[in-house]
Amino acid sequence: MNVVVLGPPGAGKGTQAVRLAEAFGLQHLSSGDVLRAERQSGTELGGRVARYMDSGALVPDEIIVEVILVRVLKPTRPAGVLLDGFPRTLAQAEALDAALARADKRVDLVVSLVVADELIVDRITGRRVCPTCGAVYHVKSLPPRKAGVCDKDGAVLVHRTDDTAAVVKERLAAYQAQTRPLEVYYRNKGLVVEVDGTSEVDTVFGRAKKEISARLGEARA
Ligand code: AP5
Repeated sequence: MNVVVLGPPGAGKGTQAVRLAEAFGLQHLSSGDVLRAERQSGTELGGRVARYMDSGALVPDEIIVEVILVRVLKPTRPAGVLLDGFPRTLAQAEALDAALARADKRVDLVVSLVVADELIVDRITGRRVCPTCGAVYHVKSLPPRKAGVCDKDGAVLVHRTDDTAAVVKERLAAYQAQTRPLEVYYRNKGLVVEVDGTSEVDTVFGRAKKEISARLGEARA
């Protein structure tokens, strides 16, 4: 099964994707994490993508499609992948569909997290992440036990360079212009389930899990 988690920046895609992938034995594939790892490794490609990410713009389709599809087509978990942050443009969605079709696979479900812009700025500017294990916190809604320190491995938490109020504005604008049309694309294929992303993390998880279970049940029936 291949699931896409769709939603604006800060909607909780990563927070939910980790839990949902674990619950269904899927590989969690975050395009943002793949790009950040590329930056950290100091490659020429990493340097190129850094400029886009820090400005809040999307990385060009030809770059992201190449780095993500190779991973989609060779999932590390046989059950399939849970995509977080990809696709983000119609061209990416079409490239994904074509690549999956060649492997006799498809996107089975799109979980669309719905969160209003007013909440997003607070979520993003308050986010802190562990540079070692990737755990995600929020200074108010999901604080670590000790301020600024990861509960899991004791690393000092960091603030993403694109998590400023000014860059969030650009990221939201990019979402509206380039990613929002994907909802229509997937809705026309009957794949979208909307989940209210404004409730507590566990409540959102419960709703999304129910939707994926239902789709899995339909697929097996
Ligand atoms: P990416 O890393 O994918 O960022 P994003 O889509 O902007 O999403 P975020 O990671 O900001 O948010 P999220 O929805 O995962 O929320 P989270 O769970 O962390 O992409 C970064 C950049 O890379 C892009 O701008 C672009 O340049 C490039 N890029 C990536 N993919 C690309 C692609 N396909 N094409 C082109 N370019 C691409 O939650 C946010 C905060 O809220 C956390 O602090 C969390 O604790 C808190 N929170 C979560 N859920 C709740 C809740 N229910 N209640 C209260 N707080 C909550």
